[in-house]
Amino acid sequence: MPLRSWALACLAILSLFLLSEAVKKEDFKSCSQSAFCRRNRALADSASEQSNWQSPYTLVKDSIRFSNNFLTADVKNTATNNVLILELQVLVDNTVRVRMDEKSPLRQRYQDHAQFTLVDDAKPVKPFKSGKNTDGVVKITLDESGCRKVVVTPSPLRIDFLVNESPVVTLNDRGFFNFEHLRSKELHKPKMITQRNEDGSETEVEAEEEKDLWEETFRTWTDSKPNGPESIGMDISFHDFGHVYGIPEHASSLSLKETRGGEGAYTEPYRLYNTDVFEYEMDSPAALYGSIPFMLAHRKNESVGVFWMNPSETWIDIVKTAPESHATGVQKVFNMVKSTGQKKSTKTHWFSEAGVLDMFVFFGPSSKDVFRQYTKLTGKPAMPQSFAIAYHQCRWNYINQNDVREVDEQFDVHDIPYDVIWLDIEHNDGKRYFTWDEAKFPDPTKMQNELSQKGRKLVTIIDPHIKRDDDYYICKEAKDKNLFVKQPSGPDYEGWCWPGQSSWVDYTNPDARKWWADKFKLDNYKHSTEALYVWNDMNEPSVFNGPEITMPKDMVHHGGWEHRALHNVYGQIYHGSTADGLKERLAVQQRPFVLSRAFYAGSQRFGSIWTGDNMAQWDALQASMPMIMSVSVAGLPFAGADVGGFFNNPSHELLVRWYQAGAFQPFFRAHAHIDTKRREPWLAGEPYTDIIRNVVRERYALLPYWYNLFQEAHENGTPIMRPLVVEYPEDEAVFAMDDQFLVGGGILVKPVTEEGATQTNVYFPPSDIWYDLHTHDRVQGMASQVVPAPLDVVPAYYRGGHIVPRRERIRRSSHAMSLDPFTLVIALDANGEANGSLYLDDGKTFGYEKKEYLMAEFNFKHGVLTYSIQHKNPVFASSIASVRVERLVILGHPSASKAVATDGSGKRDLDVEKSKNGKLVVRDPAVLITENGWKIELA
Ligand code: NOJ
Repeated sequence: MPLRSWALACLAILSLFLLSEAVKKEDFKSCSQSAFCRRNRALADSASEQSNWQSPYTLVKDSIRFSNNFLTADVKNTATNNVLILELQVLVDNTVRVRMDEKSPLRQRYQDHAQFTLVDDAKPVKPFKSGKNTDGVVKITLDESGCRKVVVTPSPLRIDFLVNESPVVTLNDRGFFNFEHLRSKELHKPKMITQRNEDGSETEVEAEEEKDLWEETFRTWTDSKPNGPESIGMDISFHDFGHVYGIPEHASSLSLKETRGGEGAYTEPYRLYNTDVFEYEMDSPAALYGSIPFMLAHRKNESVGVFWMNPSETWIDIVKTAPESHATGVQKVFNMVKSTGQKKSTKTHWFSEAGVLDMFVFFGPSSKDVFRQYTKLTGKPAMPQSFAIAYHQCRWNYINQNDVREVDEQFDVHDIPYDVIWLDIEHNDGKRYFTWDEAKFPDPTKMQNELSQKGRKLVTIIDPHIKRDDDYYICKEAKDKNLFVKQPSGPDYEGWCWPGQSSWVDYTNPDARKWWADKFKLDNYKHSTEALYVWNDMNEPSVFNGPEITMPKDMVHHGGWEHRALHNVYGQIYHGSTADGLKERLAVQQRPFVLSRAFYAGSQRFGSIWTGDNMAQWDALQASMPMIMSVSVAGLPFAGADVGGFFNNPSHELLVRWYQAGAFQPFFRAHAHIDTKRREPWLAGEPYTDIIRNVVRERYALLPYWYNLFQEAHENGTPIMRPLVVEYPEDEAVFAMDDQFLVGGGILVKPVTEEGATQTNVYFPPSDIWYDLHTHDRVQGMASQVVPAPLDVVPAYYRGGHIVPRRERIRRSSHAMSLDPFTLVIALDANGEANGSLYLDDGKTFGYEKKEYLMAEFNFKHGVLTYSIQHKNPVFASSIASVRVERLVILGHPSASKAVATDGSGKRDLDVEKSKNGKLVVRDPAVLITENGWKIELA
């Protein structure tokens, strides 16, 4: 090995060693170590302690204006005389935006993130009615029905969102609103308090809240805080909503816990600050790799949502209270009735370090409405290529070209389908992204072509830290074009990551985004082919020698903005630039596939995320469910966890159980740390390999159903891995349930997450009939019951009323399945009916945006299955002209002994086979998927 490579290898090993030695809980701030967190919590404490507390903020009555369809008014802090401007806008689809900024700020506060976060221009619409009374109370009625209103009470400032005259959401309910106005350090007069000394004398000292206003030290790092204190905080109450969800990413429960008092409460607030946490803790509100400040609140049959659009460090406190009386000034003025239900209310308190207050309230009324409302603003989840939702094989690292070839071949030898093989950071030249280690990968093009011939793909890792090396073209160009993030004093910021000394491209700069996207052109990224896709890791950004393993907050971005103001959106912009690059690299654009570790609101537009470096432990397997569901309800449905666990070696049993869970989660990838033993599915031996094979094949059989769900998510933002509360909004038994989930609306899954378990408890929502996915037996008995779950069984069930399309031929990759016939599983409900849909497109390009797809519905009623096509693009349809239905599996005792198919070519009698468990199999109806109007009648 040449000397340089030795040095690099040593550095890599050293960095790994240091990483595992250094990154501990104490590397990350608790609230008490963050000055703005302390200040905002202290304000909440002091407000709560005073029975007569009144928020100092007041709406200035004669400043209220309705112009350009929205309300503006001055809001005065009566304690400081600082004035803010409030803007309240009604948007389409039961959404309201509330903004507040300083009226005459010392300097502008950061707002550019909106361009990275919102896709909708969020133009206000004219509300149905708006007006104010003589007390200055403003009332805005959203629409003609009059059931949704916003009421702004001037003194103290309070904003109520009402449904049928009852407040559902209130801002500044508890008076914690806090907007730290920008001030100049020179003119700042610290608040002094009198301290009594032991000898009875008194001394004037700086008040506690003056600490760390202008500079803050955490461990060995000092944050220069040139703007001083600039945080904003607001309390948001969800009246009579007992459950809130979302605000990922945390290794916590789906239904969020209290953070201040209460049974099982955390002592820290939930924190949103993208960080690379080594061996992260389970059941914790601590920040992880991604942040989406979106919260969904639910009570029986009603959901509302809130999006706090702020990419700076944010903390959220949650408490729950008994039902309350809402006879406040608002109700008195407008004669409103009291609260609606008996359930607990949830009171939250949000505070961010910088920026302006810019938030959205979504009225729902169902959770699916809220998902649509939120993704209308922040963007539709990307429609993936069909390979991306199949199975991915990764490890750190497949060491060379032979290794890749062998792993690829072994999948075929063992008859296990897979679509993508991944290369981690060891594949390139000294962690110089976009390059190859030529000794290990002498012919990457050939390698990709070989994979491609089997319909398979390659993913390479591209991280945002760029090795400082003038002989490395990426570094040289970025330096020459001045595209790196800067130090406050001007030079490029430098920190330490995998390649050693590195700099970070400033993706907030449009030139940098464009330049970066160009790097993915096939001519620019040497030896890349169409079969190569990308993995963006370490984009929090992870900086090994930075405060909290990330970039110091006082580093400077394009336009002079501090990193502090935009930290949480950095990784999202990077992810987006990479996705743009992949999209633009070919003449006929193909859908990008980019996996990212960091994320923010809007990341759903660019691809998938995963839950980072989890442990090969049972509790981490369990945690993958609430973690993925929390990301999913926050508009980002394409999420997964490292199957098998990243750190350490899973037992064969844990590995099998993890495959069983992963096969039913949206992003399905096995991955492992460089220090772990190899664990490709065939290495475990029997019976494990066989069980893994079966469950991976089950994933492939269900790919048509998954593809439907991705299309639905793309349209409406509906989670794919779906918490039961989304489908059963009236069943309180499921509101906090996160150890089982639904895939779409039609399949219930309860993965086993306990060592040695041979059975598990499953809750079957009693309003539906359920059928075992494997045996097709109808589930009998209680709603909650123990079911057998030996190692080879993952309890999974079809939901009565659903028709699930499957493709059951065993193939080596999803690509090889594209013309395979369908099996339709028709799971009947109590009325003997079922419905389902089918969405097909080329699985690759953006043709679907030009309506190049087929969309159809299956409907089973009165013993007849009918097929109706809603949309059929003739060119696309001709490419799948041969695709037919080869089998119907009808569950739920349909009474029939024969079946007749009727289509364009006439009537045909079909073979029917009835099993003891009430299942009817109709063989080879041979009806075509591109032919509208065929039917199959049972008789
Ligand atoms: C950290 C990622 O989370 C992990 O998945 C990856 O293998 C390592 N970085 C090395 O790239």
